Amino acid sequence: MKCKVCGQTAHVALNSHNTGFCSKCFCDFFSRQVARGIESQKLLAKQEPVLVAISGGKDSLSLMLELSRQGYRVSGLFIDLAIPDSSGIARQVVERFCKKHGLDLQIISLADEGLAIPLVKAALNRPVCSACGKIKRHYFNRAAIDGGFAALATGHNLDDETARLLSNTMRWDGAYLSSQGPLLEAENGFARRIKPLWRLSEFETANYAFIEGIEHSCASCPYSPGASFTTLKNILGRLEKAMPGRKLDFYQSFLKHGRPVFAASAPKAEDALKPCENCGSPTSSGDLCGVCRIRIAVRERIQA
Ligand code: AMP
Ligand code: FES
Ligand code: ZN
Repeated sequence: MKCKVCGQTAHVALNSHNTGFCSKCFCDFFSRQVARGIESQKLLAKQEPVLVAISGGKDSLSLMLELSRQGYRVSGLFIDLAIPDSSGIARQVVERFCKKHGLDLQIISLADEGLAIPLVKAALNRPVCSACGKIKRHYFNRAAIDGGFAALATGHNLDDETARLLSNTMRWDGAYLSSQGPLLEAENGFARRIKPLWRLSEFETANYAFIEGIEHSCASCPYSPGASFTTLKNILGRLEKAMPGRKLDFYQSFLKHGRPVFAASAPKAEDALKPCENCGSPTSSGDLCGVCRIRIAVRERIQA
């Protein structure tokens, strides 16, 4: 196969676009898709400072590199979860990446916050993954607001987003369907949240990371039985193979026709939100936010 742009030997075949690219033209394609994803959904302006949540995985590191190359004012945020055999490796990868590319990095250590994930797991009588997600989102938001950033960016890609969309649709979960998308505007104490890789598949991001020589961490979390939405991702992968382009179409059509309908009938969040008495973060779950309640549970468990 020949590169669609320059005619040299293609190194990356993209069935969904019915085409192939050499390495250089593929990276140009990747950049255009990121730019189109940002511009079409009005995610971010060039002059706005953006905090990029980098986990050490290929998606968020590719995102950070690409945004910085496109001239965005990026700064990295890594949350050290204190999980043995995975957090330390990811932290070193992230530190080396930011040093190599001369990018700012902030690290929040959950051990210092009294929320090391192994302790949270021991203190809760339910799966730790949802609590871990809640804690990460809490610190993403705090760091973005306290640091004066216009937005918080994550490395979610098209496969993550379509699998989540299918999951929400199968439950006809109106609340989630009203707010799912690459842009969540800032409101009620929450920073703007953006997902600039929403047009790119996991395969495409993996190729970009490989071509750009991005060292990333593959250490999986010992507490998750597998990557999230694996079954739905496999089903959508089979659909994409049979009907190239369907995944992007499914997501884009939802953004255009589906989300506005659900958003119109969603209850207003601010009615239920008030500041946490301890940390000031917006919460709908009583006097204390969920994260402050988890911190108390961890402390009680240690003292018991
Ligand atoms: P995940 O939920 O693990 O698939 O991660 C989704 C996105 O959340 C990643 O692409 C990152 O942008 C961000 N993220 C996940 N874990 C961390 C972490 N420990 N520190 C900073 N960002 C993270
Ligand atoms: Fe949070 Fe596994 S429980 S990454
Ligand atoms: Zn709180």
